[in-house]
Amino acid sequence: MGKIEVKICMGTMCYVMGGAELKAVVDTLPPEIRDRVEISYSPCLGTCNNGGEPPYVKINDRLVARVSKTSLLQIIKEELYNAV
Ligand code: FES
Repeated sequence: MGKIEVKICMGTMCYVMGGAELKAVVDTLPPEIRDRVEISYSPCLGTCNNGGEPPYVKINDRLVARVSKTSLLQIIKEELYNAV
């Protein structure tokens, strides 16, 4: 079973708009999910300068805006389901 890639933006804009909480979410993922997720962090995903909607997370190649603690978990579960 393949892993999905989750890249969380830790740039200033995303961090203050909720990125810090997203890190806490991935740090507490249940083992059965954590084992299938490749987590990385970015200093800036490059989309915050145009009046964007931080915090941003990249799931595989898909950029998602305004990610919350709840939606991040939901998105990860959906991607894992689609990857089966
Ligand atoms: S700080 Fe997150 S996209 Fe730039």
